[in-house]
Amino acid sequence: MTYSLNCRTVRLAAISLLLFALIPRGYVAPTTLAASREPVRAPHGIVASTNEVASRVGVDIMKRGGNAVDAAIAVAFALAVTHPAAGNLGGGGFMMIRLKDGRTTAIDYREMAPAAATRNIYLDKHGNVIEGEGGSIEGYRAAGVPGTVRGMELALKKYGSHRLTWTQLIEPARRLAASGFTVTNTLARGLRGNREYLSKYAETKRIYLNDGKFYDEGQTFAQPDLAATFARLQQRGPDEFYEGQTARMIVDDLSRHNGLMTLEDMRGYVAKERTPLRGTYRGYEIISMPPPSSGGAVLIEMLNILEGYDFKTIDWASSERYHLTTEAMRRAFADRAEYMGDTDFVKVPIAGLVDKKYAAQLRSTINLERASSSEQVKAGKPLGYESDETTHFTVVDGDGNAVSNTYTLNNSYGSAVVAKGTGIIMNDEMDDFAAKPGTPNLYGLIQGERNAVAPHKRPLSAMTPTFVLRKNGSLWFTVGSPGGPTIINTVLDVITNVIDYNMNIQQAIDAPRIHHQWLPDELVYEPYGLAGDTQKALLARGHKLVDKPRYLGDCEGIMIEEKTGIRLGATDPRRSDGLAVGY
Ligand code: DON
Repeated sequence: MTYSLNCRTVRLAAISLLLFALIPRGYVAPTTLAASREPVRAPHGIVASTNEVASRVGVDIMKRGGNAVDAAIAVAFALAVTHPAAGNLGGGGFMMIRLKDGRTTAIDYREMAPAAATRNIYLDKHGNVIEGEGGSIEGYRAAGVPGTVRGMELALKKYGSHRLTWTQLIEPARRLAASGFTVTNTLARGLRGNREYLSKYAETKRIYLNDGKFYDEGQTFAQPDLAATFARLQQRGPDEFYEGQTARMIVDDLSRHNGLMTLEDMRGYVAKERTPLRGTYRGYEIISMPPPSSGGAVLIEMLNILEGYDFKTIDWASSERYHLTTEAMRRAFADRAEYMGDTDFVKVPIAGLVDKKYAAQLRSTINLERASSSEQVKAGKPLGYESDETTHFTVVDGDGNAVSNTYTLNNSYGSAVVAKGTGIIMNDEMDDFAAKPGTPNLYGLIQGERNAVAPHKRPLSAMTPTFVLRKNGSLWFTVGSPGGPTIINTVLDVITNVIDYNMNIQQAIDAPRIHHQWLPDELVYEPYGLAGDTQKALLARGHKLVDKPRYLGDCEGIMIEEKTGIRLGATDPRRSDGLAVGY
């Protein structure tokens, strides 16, 4: 016995020595061992987006003297061509900007409801939510007034470098649309996968399904109508989209088919600059999107709840971490349903929701061993009312200006309607309103009165473009994702992975995620994301696991390496076209 032990000890020592000798000199072990490729490193500027061609467009703009905002504008236009499921002219979104001097702002270019969109517009005469054409998801009545063009205009005027013009920033997108780009395997699969949806409207079928012949990987996909729209935008500026020929083409086509949008609605669209929401997590500042997104408030509420637990003593893959995270998600999403809406129209108790004392109160309702039931968890009572398929990309330039931008058509390919002759896919963002408060929307989300439809109102969003600062106030990392309500939880997971578990930005993005949104009361997890033992432990605690695991989000992030200032870019392995490109 003694002999064999000794023998094993000697053998182990010999193996260790051998392994040590095999490690190349100068090798520094990574700080954590999660299996991920290294982030893309760049000393100057970097773009992380879901599409390599678009990332390269952004880098080229920075090399020509543009700043992060210029690059972001060019990337946004390019994605409207190369990532048509979500990149857009016919949708809207949010751009968070942090300038090198630390000033931070949020550009809100979310769609606005047309004037004719009143509270019950999506209900039939029996009071039921209208499905299909005429409803808030597909067809000519589903679109809000698009905000992307006004959003880019506002960002450029106030925060661009003014070394590159509007026309120059649109040019790469126009060229990609005119000459075409090479269809990737991801795009070819995506188009085929959506063939039923994209076949519903002849113009959409003609463009995106090649009139039923489909585009295959490696083929060139040109969009001449969209190229002409870009050319008009270059020649006549952003007003052309809202008041000129493009506006008329959109409105003519929609109104011929019983749509809601008028020229007055188009003319009346305004992008707004908002004050970002700020919170802290273990002393690190979190800066994120305020209403009309629920993202920032729900994220900060969840982080505040989780701050009360010492994750240093809780294993990352343990049922305990999943349990506590799920309970924080359940409570914050219950509040989202009750309290959140467009603050230009309704009162939202933002200060109360992101208050640490309120989080402590919610935390005290969490049983450390047992799952709560969503039926019993109602929205809390935050203090003090104040008076008042999506894609994310992020850019950091050589000077340290940063952009974190999420924008969308809502559903993949929006409402499936291409406004005739424009090449523009129209959004179906009207479904982000509560068509009938209390009834689930496309994402199964229950939403309340504050998010009811009203003329000119902006539908509540979950998009969460976010910055996290180091304790000395410098930019640490940027993050954001698509995924409807799962967006907020994806951002939460990445932030806690970095802060609590010391992961780098790529590891934090790669790591399997979970999602809970209060109702339906189910814990969503990713394929291979939860070990069987952990699933059993969660079931034993009373959690309800979703029937079928599914991938969550398509997260892009940039982290600044503290010692060197090197930009570290990371895209999500869940979508294969993403690439961080830097110089
Ligand atoms: O604004 C929102 O929250 C939704 N329209 C986002 C939709 C989305 O992320 C779809 N992508 N997978």
